[in-house]
Amino acid sequence: MEFSIKSGSPERIRTGCIIIGVFEPRKLTSAGAALDGASRGQLGAAIKRGDMEGKSGTTLMLQQLPGIDAARVMMVGLGRERDFDDGKYRQAIGKAISALKQTGVTEAVLCMTAGVKHRNLGWHAAQSAIAATDAIYRFDRMKSKQETVRGVRQLTLLVAERGDLAAGQAGLKQGVAMAHGMNLARDLGNLPPNVCTPSYLADAARDLAKRYRLRVQILERKDMEKLGMGSLLSVARGSHQPPKLIIVKYDGGPRSAKPYALVGKGVTFDTGGISLKPAAEMDEMKFDMCGAASVLGTLRAVAELKLSINVVGVIPATENMPGGAATKPGDIVTSMSGQTVEILNTDAEGRLILCDALTYTERFEPQAVIDIATLTGACVIALGHVASGLFANDEALAQELLAAGQTAGDRAWHLPLWDDYQDQLKSNFADFANIGGRPAGSVTAACFLSRFTKKFKWAHLDIAGVAWKSGAAKGSTGRPVPLLTQFLIERAAKA
Ligand code: BES
Ligand code: MN
Ligand code: ZN
Repeated sequence: MEFSIKSGSPERIRTGCIIIGVFEPRKLTSAGAALDGASRGQLGAAIKRGDMEGKSGTTLMLQQLPGIDAARVMMVGLGRERDFDDGKYRQAIGKAISALKQTGVTEAVLCMTAGVKHRNLGWHAAQSAIAATDAIYRFDRMKSKQETVRGVRQLTLLVAERGDLAAGQAGLKQGVAMAHGMNLARDLGNLPPNVCTPSYLADAARDLAKRYRLRVQILERKDMEKLGMGSLLSVARGSHQPPKLIIVKYDGGPRSAKPYALVGKGVTFDTGGISLKPAAEMDEMKFDMCGAASVLGTLRAVAELKLSINVVGVIPATENMPGGAATKPGDIVTSMSGQTVEILNTDAEGRLILCDALTYTERFEPQAVIDIATLTGACVIALGHVASGLFANDEALAQELLAAGQTAGDRAWHLPLWDDYQDQLKSNFADFANIGGRPAGSVTAACFLSRFTKKFKWAHLDIAGVAWKSGAAKGSTGRPVPLLTQFLIERAAKA
């Protein structure tokens, strides 16, 4: 979808459809009131007839109103003004854009660039781009016949004052970049695991690098052997697909500025290995590379925005398969850090690949490291599909990430990384084990990673519950690209 922004009065806009909000009960917003005046009360009349109460999630289309240049006016219910918040705003935009898929409208104007208290015009513009892009997203490239695409292709945000254009434009640009990053992450996530292999992810990184002048380096199995990445390699042993360690660099800041490192779990299919997973829903383990996808998506957004910071993405990519050569429960491996790990469950593989990627990241002397991983089923039990689990060894970094998630509509929740939990990783035979038992499974997974992050400020996002949706709406979400991009936008502004 193409986005633009302009100023003017709604009744004089020539477009396929003007979209306005209506609060419950029956209250027009200022753009709606202007249209009502110009059409001599047509909007008010429709409301009086009882066709639009303003209930959240409802829409009503009016055609060819007198005194209005647009072919249609769509009213979208916003719910009670008192309760109108970030989520309701995104939901209203999503409903409106989705409803237009049932019409011939390809080009529309949105008069909803305000309404949420404590949020400025730039925020509304950014969030409208994200919500609208989400509403028209489809993934049909694996279908033998593509349905003809209906829906809005061109969306213009309308602001009242010319003086608002600059702020609106800046917000819009950020939102569009986040939406593009999310789409990239979603596409990679949705691809089937026989297509999206570690080699495919490496190619995707190369493509991205070519398009945005990023630098990319792919380490092969031999390179990883030389580096002593025994933990990462132990996960790849059961697979016929070669593992890849993908490094992508964006240099937008001064040469001397230390980079931000994003480390993303790239398990392109997680069978559990010898600790085989049950059959039900195992197909969803194709999404076990969504951390990796979010790293590429965020790099895309950062590059599109030309942020003046340096970022390095590090993606350990592998399948986790059973096989004659696969790692067995009880095997002990030596990580790149020199620490030995007793693998008591081969299904706790994410931490095994991340730990070596984290050690590798030390060489970039990063100012902060954030790893992103669909790491634990326990995180889904703790936080459901709403918030990512956030762990950090630095309180200020944690607070910044929480705030960025709030702003971007991509929230995380802080969980403890207290030493008290570390005991659960005790091993009789190696330095520690790769699992800590059932209690606090997400915390002990983070504790495991914390043993490889002593040299830098580090945060860990467990996105197991938020990276994809199950059921009828099964598919990748593109989270946490907005959170990560928002964090980096704010860091770039401070630099
Ligand atoms: N990729 C899974 C985590 C996962 C499971 C995410 C279900 C979303 C839904 C991860 O590799 C895994 O299998 N974790 C195990 C760890 C356990 C063996 C300690 C888990 O959560 O069951
Ligand atoms: Mn697993
Ligand atoms: Zn996994």
